[in-house]
Amino acid sequence: MSLVYKLNSHHQHHTQTMDSCILSLALPFLFIIFLIYKACNPQKANTKWSRLPLGQMGLPWIGETISFYRAQRKNQLFDTFFQPRIKKHGKIFKTRLMGSPTVVVNGAAANKFFMSNEFKLVISSWPTSSVELMGKNSIMEKQGDSHRCLRGIIASTLGPSGLQEIVPRMCSSILKHLQRNWQNREEISLHKSTKILTFSIVLECLFGIKLELETMFGVFENVLEGVLAAPVDLPGTKFNRAKKARAEIQKVLVDEVRRKREAIERGKDEEDGMLLSNLVAALIKGEVTENEVVDNIVLLVFAAHDTTSYAIAMTFKMLANHPHCYSLLLKEHEEIASTKRAGETLNLEDVKKMEYTWQVARETMRLCPPIFGSFRKATADIEYEGFTIPNGWKVLWTTYGTHYDEEYFQDPLSFKPSRFADPVQAYAFIPFGGGPRLCAGYQLAKLNILVFMHYVVTRYDWSLVYPDEPIVMDPLPFPSKGMPIKITRKLI
Ligand code: HEM
Repeated sequence: MSLVYKLNSHHQHHTQTMDSCILSLALPFLFIIFLIYKACNPQKANTKWSRLPLGQMGLPWIGETISFYRAQRKNQLFDTFFQPRIKKHGKIFKTRLMGSPTVVVNGAAANKFFMSNEFKLVISSWPTSSVELMGKNSIMEKQGDSHRCLRGIIASTLGPSGLQEIVPRMCSSILKHLQRNWQNREEISLHKSTKILTFSIVLECLFGIKLELETMFGVFENVLEGVLAAPVDLPGTKFNRAKKARAEIQKVLVDEVRRKREAIERGKDEEDGMLLSNLVAALIKGEVTENEVVDNIVLLVFAAHDTTSYAIAMTFKMLANHPHCYSLLLKEHEEIASTKRAGETLNLEDVKKMEYTWQVARETMRLCPPIFGSFRKATADIEYEGFTIPNGWKVLWTTYGTHYDEEYFQDPLSFKPSRFADPVQAYAFIPFGGGPRLCAGYQLAKLNILVFMHYVVTRYDWSLVYPDEPIVMDPLPFPSKGMPIKITRKLI
């Protein structure tokens, strides 16, 4: 008994000594953490900091990144990250994400303020891996005159006469795709199919580039997988694989650009209105550089890829869950198809008649935005709504802040495409962003979605294999099983 007591008391004494030892070592460490925390959270230090929005900055560097990533992976950013913070701190709140102090802004007025002050008070801010893989000359890194010049070239290609010419090209790309990949199949992965299709539409219909599509698709996918991955350049990492693939693409595209330049300079190439020709014409005039041409081809493929394919996949999912909307949509397409002769493709006028389908697609993107928001960086101390956002801080605008708010959309969580029959308040519906950085491929994405819907619904009966297939994000959203659908060819 006494031995046990002795042993216990010895053990207790030993434990107490160890505890105090750990405590004396830990105290200075905790104190240093506290000092760093105070340095990073100097709210009370002066008036500027005391006017910061409410919110939690969390731990040094990490901040609230872990909760953010966790919510993102499950596609629950709104429910478990943004909404609780909006309720607690208001529509404009501060946090710290991926090492950066960040102010999250929600609401149409805030969207308008921050989007339209691009280049004046904020600039867009992309992760290191995106910049390295897209290239420093891509439009997303450009500001001022060089940004305006590149946008002008894209806008002229996608202007009214450009679109007129793109529609028949897009029809034949889509029909070719359906013939190759859907013919005689009973089940296909809709998401995979639309990714391959979008890739070929951007290269063939927008740029006018003919590559070995199947091989190049794989190489591009490797680049795209690294665009938002951690910038760790070690063998086996996504980023490392992406950099190698990017170097491979660089060679292929430089060859394409030089071939096109030679053809135009020799007068062999007629003006075809395609984006590659327009960019190369600007290159010859000295308005853009060869690297700018190449980097922007890669960027546009990236910008179109996961966004358009997700929008299409989710539109099908919404239609499967809302049969009444599907019959209205089908009627719209059957009427258009009935005006066409056998083998005659669609034209821009036909696409303009697809009003209800565009309402369905917009309502889908309101509820399931392919891009939930985007980061900016403050280039000056910004005064907004009585708050100060310090120079160098990040600003994050979100689609959820308006898309899911009943101030802008009545009964916001219900799927009601006809709400888009009426005009929507400016900067409330923002799946394509706004201001000078408004999606430059908006028109192409719209055509892609509408023309694809037309050919699928008029030619196929289809149903979802997994009606409740979960959507995950990594970091962009996608259906976790690739959204397989069962298809049967209609008898026309
Ligand atoms: C449903 C499909 C699409 C969605 C939802 C979408 C969404 C967006 C959003 C939200 C932005 C703004 C990002 C920001 O403010 O930081 C953006 C920018 C951009 N998008 Fe799209 N996009 C789509 C399709 C496309 C396509 C098909 C292309 C081109 C082929 C494209 C090219 C671009 C470019 C070049 C920018 C950068 C504009 C600039 O920095 O000036 N997008 N897109």
